[in-house]
Amino acid sequence: MRVIRSRRRFPSLPYFWSLIDWSLPSWGRYSSQLAKAQNVFDIAAIAKKRTPKVVFDYVEGSAVDEVAYDRTRDALSRIEINSHVLRDVSNIDTSTTILGKKVDLPICFAPTGYTRLMYHVGEPAVANVAANKNTVYALSTMGTVSPAELAAAVPSSRRWFQLYIMKKREDTLAVIKQARDSGFETLVLTVDTPVAGLRYRDNRNGLTVPPKIRLSTVFAIACKPRWWINLFTTGKLEFAAFRGWDKPLSDLAALIFDPSTKFEDIKWLRSVWSGPIVIKGIQSVADAQAVAKLGVQGIILSNHGGRQFDRGPVPVEILPDVVAAVGKKVEVYIDGGIMSGLDALGAIALGAKAVFIGRAYLYGAMANGEAI
Ligand SMILES: Cc1cc2nc3c(=O)[nH]c(=O)nc-3n(C[C@H](O)[C@H](O)[C@H](O)COP(=O)(O)O)c2cc1C
Repeated sequence: MRVIRSRRRFPSLPYFWSLIDWSLPSWGRYSSQLAKAQNVFDIAAIAKKRTPKVVFDYVEGSAVDEVAYDRTRDALSRIEINSHVLRDVSNIDTSTTILGKKVDLPICFAPTGYTRLMYHVGEPAVANVAANKNTVYALSTMGTVSPAELAAAVPSSRRWFQLYIMKKREDTLAVIKQARDSGFETLVLTVDTPVAGLRYRDNRNGLTVPPKIRLSTVFAIACKPRWWINLFTTGKLEFAAFRGWDKPLSDLAALIFDPSTKFEDIKWLRSVWSGPIVIKGIQSVADAQAVAKLGVQGIILSNHGGRQFDRGPVPVEILPDVVAAVGKKVEVYIDGGIMSGLDALGAIALGAKAVFIGRAYLYGAMANGEAI
């Protein structure tokens, strides 16, 4: 039998030359890691190296045994998406509308407290990315910049304000006024925090805001100098919406979470805020139906990223039923465990109008700030 052989030739130097990648390797430890990062988990690994343990654990951790969060991630990874072939996909339009206005991506930025603890620029850096991507950013009541400061720093941002109904109505009204005066378009009322979540990691790490300087801190500074320099050389770390509050932070937390909040309080909120209201932290079809009747515009199906109640249902698993029950009356969004475009796609395929991300952007902020 005849065997086919390739014909040898004298080695071609120009060809060899053309295969060489002449770009210089990146010498900086972090910049080369950043350049190689493939996904949010790679970014989280860099973030872990760059921030003190107490801060990283505050972001990554969940409540109690962290079961709800693991289940949430697992459920997202089990979604199978039926893709059709032989369709023209040369032009993809990822835009949608949220409360009647166009966004370029159905991925919005969830409210996260204390953002300057993770990255010294804080909430404006995140809002700036959201504005550049033409999507929504929600500032937390526990934000480290005030509504007015955020609006001044990123005037073009499409900003929502996350609210708690506090023990004293006048405190709630004072915060709402700040949001209204600073052009926030929507109130996001978080309803899954009758009490602060029990987070073992934070308790073990002795998390305080601002961080306490202990003897061990000296070692921590030596390990993460960049983070500490940023902390010491920028403004005071505080809950900016409550600036001037002259009592300990623990008193503030006790006033912010009102365990007696009820459905009627949403009616009260409706009477003092004429713009859209979105209820965040819905975890059942019955509650979705109950709030939809109260004239709100949207709900965020959410288990607070597993940071509050550790045995609740997984949002994405109840999503189709919630959409079937209330999807014609209110917009249904979802959050919890969204770490990739595929996770977002799965949730949207199951009926969510948009997804919100929390940890995913905080990992980026901790790894390399806005420039990730
Ligand atoms: C560090 C951190 C702080 C948060 N702070 C708030 C907050 O102040 N108010 C709120 O409604 N939700 C808060 N959340 C919950 C997020 O809004 C969102 O529900 C959750 O992060 C979604 O899960 P994911 O982090 O897996 O994306 C916080 C989450 C994290 C990780």
